[in-house]
Amino acid sequence: MTKICCIGAGYVGGPTMAMIAKQCPDVQVTVVDINEKRIAAWQTDDLPIYEPGLDEVVKEALGRNLFFSTDVDQGIRDAEIVFVSVNTPTKTFGAGAGCASDLQYWELCARRIKEVSTSDKIIVEKSTLPVRTAEAMERVLHSGQTDVHFEVLSNPEFLAEGTAIADLENPDRVLIGGHETPSGQKALQTLVDIYATWIPRERILTANVWSAELSKLTANAFLAQRVSSINAISALCEATEADIGEVAHAIGTDSRIGPKFLKASIGFGGSCFKKDILNLVYLCESYGLQAPADYWRQVVAMNEYQESRFVKTMLHSMFNTIAGKRIAIFGFAFKADTGDTRESPAIKVCRELAAEHATLVVSDPQAMEHAKLEMPELADEIEFEVDPCKAAEGAHAVAVLTDWKQYKELDYQRIFDSMQKPAFLFDGRNMLDHQALFDIGFEVYSIGKGKKTHLK
Ligand SMILES: NC(=O)c1ccc[n+]([C@@H]2O[C@H](COP(=O)([O-])OP(=O)(O)OC[C@H]3O[C@@H](n4cnc5c(N)ncnc54)[C@H](O)[C@@H]3O)[C@@H](O)[C@H]2O)c1
Repeated sequence: MTKICCIGAGYVGGPTMAMIAKQCPDVQVTVVDINEKRIAAWQTDDLPIYEPGLDEVVKEALGRNLFFSTDVDQGIRDAEIVFVSVNTPTKTFGAGAGCASDLQYWELCARRIKEVSTSDKIIVEKSTLPVRTAEAMERVLHSGQTDVHFEVLSNPEFLAEGTAIADLENPDRVLIGGHETPSGQKALQTLVDIYATWIPRERILTANVWSAELSKLTANAFLAQRVSSINAISALCEATEADIGEVAHAIGTDSRIGPKFLKASIGFGGSCFKKDILNLVYLCESYGLQAPADYWRQVVAMNEYQESRFVKTMLHSMFNTIAGKRIAIFGFAFKADTGDTRESPAIKVCRELAAEHATLVVSDPQAMEHAKLEMPELADEIEFEVDPCKAAEGAHAVAVLTDWKQYKELDYQRIFDSMQKPAFLFDGRNMLDHQALFDIGFEVYSIGKGKKTHLK
């Protein structure tokens, strides 16, 4: 029986390993983590992350060939293949602070692997890493005297939170990078064979290690760039009476462009886009490539502009003062179908609204606990109310910040009746029926579309 260990039981390690265990009953998968609470939660009905369909996948394999443990050393020692799926956040200190990847968790893992291994292993980079990290890792793994051989592969994860299970079950592609040496190719084939259990062979792409590492950063930079591009045009739409929905549709039907990721909004969030673009910026700068660095940095700058622009629209439309006004925030997760709030645009929007002395009531179906932790400095000032209708009671405005589909189905007449007048609604996701809301009596503002107001 092939034995796999995965270091890191987070948003990536948990779901990816659960899927491998489900699809490959003859492979034993052990996920290890230093976070005891997380490891315990994976073995209950209350999983540590919210992801549609994840419960069933975990349930099917848990205890059969899927195990969770805090014994990192034992997990590594027993395995032939070790995935490393630890966090690689943006560095907050020292050289490259605010831009470069913080590789301390990844390097600690490499040192641990080297320390405890007594047999040859394939080490798989699952975390998103700067290009050429594998080289540094190989140096750490093979430093000093050792008879053990480690073959490093890069297998970046392309899943999106909220659709992780569908993405893992039926991915557009899986990418595996290996060295062009006999042992590199043999290791690569071992991993190809595992994925080929359920993924058509033509969708399993192989490449050299550096291409695989760089492709992940590039994929996120391109996706984020599409969001920033359409958001840049949304600002121009508001100034010219063009409609961003119509523009996005007109350009998205060009098959060279395509319709996906052209939805104007308050901006992208999540733990990956910003950090991966900044990582790319840092890499470009460290190779002396200033123009490419500036080019990609602008994608992040555009996103920050869009978040602030939304708050400015709120402030200006509400007569240039929101001090003391009650504002109900519908949605705090960075997107629908996840409880993840890392880098959510809601954080910046709430902070800027609080700076204007607004009274905030935050509502979200899955992210309430994370939301409280994101804004510790405002914890005493912000109210949290899971029911959006209650959150809106007595409010001057509702701001929709996450595209939870249940927000489409609320009783907006009832919400309107319970609010202060004029009742403002700011749709940061362009997801509601603006005409219907206007007809109820709301002052409706959205992104890249004309405002609908009864005020003269
Ligand atoms: N979240 C996503 O949607 C996504 C998608 C694709 C790729 N990625 C990448 O995958 C990686 C992991 O992301 P995530 O969102 O799962 O992070 P996460 O923070 O949810 O999980 C990382 C886990 O690693 C554990 N860990 C850290 N150091 C450890 C150590 N030395 N030993 C054992 N465990 C350790 C942490 O306790 C944590 O539980 C990152 O590089 C990220 O860029 C994330």
